[in-house]
Amino acid sequence: MDLGIKDHVAIVTGGGAGIGAQTCRTLAKEGVHLSVVDINSEDAEKIAEEVRSYGVKAIAQTVDVSQLEQTEEMVQKTLSEFGKIDIMNNVAGVALPGFFQNSKKEQWEMEINVCLYGVMNCCKSVINPMMAQNSGKIVNVASDAGKAGEKIMVSYSAAKAGIMGFTRSLAKEMGRYWININAVCPGTTKNTGMTVLLDDELEKKWVKTYALRRLGNVQDAANMIVFLSSTAADWITGQSISVNGGYFMG
Ligand SMILES: NC(=O)c1ccc[n+]([C@@H]2O[C@H](COP(=O)([O-])OP(=O)(O)OC[C@H]3O[C@@H](n4cnc5c(N)ncnc54)[C@H](O)[C@@H]3O)[C@@H](O)[C@H]2O)c1
Repeated sequence: MDLGIKDHVAIVTGGGAGIGAQTCRTLAKEGVHLSVVDINSEDAEKIAEEVRSYGVKAIAQTVDVSQLEQTEEMVQKTLSEFGKIDIMNNVAGVALPGFFQNSKKEQWEMEINVCLYGVMNCCKSVINPMMAQNSGKIVNVASDAGKAGEKIMVSYSAAKAGIMGFTRSLAKEMGRYWININAVCPGTTKNTGMTVLLDDELEKKWVKTYALRRLGNVQDAANMIVFLSSTAADWITGQSISVNGGYFMG
C-alpha cells in the first residue's frame, strides 16, 4: 500500500519520546519532513537529528502545548520553514496517577491542560492554514482509558474522553475543507515515559486482560497514527480507533 505522503510536512507534538518519537521515525521513513515538538528541548533536538539521517528535513521546537500562544508560534514557524502543513499529530500528554479521592485540583488541571487543551490549542492553531489549502490530516492521541475507564487515572480519562468528543465534532465542521480528524486510543504501551513504572510482575498480571496476550509497543501506536495521517485514510474521519491488543472492544 502506498501511503502517498512523501514530501508531506508534519508537526508531531510529544515527538521527543515514546509514541511521539516513534511516530516521527515512521513518518520520516515515509519521506515526511518534520517539526518535532516537545516541552523537553533536548529530546526534541535529539529526535530531529535522528530523523534527518533518513533524508528528510526536520526542525525541533520547544513548545508547551497547553499554551495557545506557543502553539500558534509553532504553526507559524513550521509554515515559514516548510511552506505548508499536511499533518498534525497531537501526541503530547501527561498522566499523574493516583486515586481520585486523594487527588488535588492542580493534578486534574495539569492533565486536562496538557491532554485536552493541548490538543484543542494545536487544532485551533493549525486549522486555518489547513482550511486555506483545502487539505489536512489531524490525528489526536487519546487513550483506551477514555473509553473503558481506568482506576487511578480518573481525571486523565476525563481529558482523553474529551479528546474523542472534540475530535468527532471538529471532524464534522472540517470535512468540507477536506480535513480529516481522527483519534487513536492506545492500550498500555511499553517503554515510554508513561509506563516507566511497569515491571515484569505487573506486566504478567495485566497481559491476561489483553486478548492478544501482549502489551503494546510504540510501533503499534505509531503505525495507526501514520496510517490515519496518510492518503490511504482519505475516507476516514471523526473516528476514535483503539490500538489495544483486544483490551477493550466496543
Ligand atoms: N504509554 C501508554 O501506555 C499510553 C496509553 C494510552 C495513551 N497514551 C498516550 O500516548 C501519548 C504519548 O505518551 P507516551 O506513552 O509516549 O509517553 P511519554 O511520556 O514517553 O511521551 C509524552 C511526551 O509528551 C511530552 N510532553 C508532556 N507535556 C507536554 C507539554 N505540555 N507540551 C509539549 N510536550 C509535552 C513529554 O515531554 C514526552 O516527550 C500521550 O498522549 C499518552 O496519554 C499512552
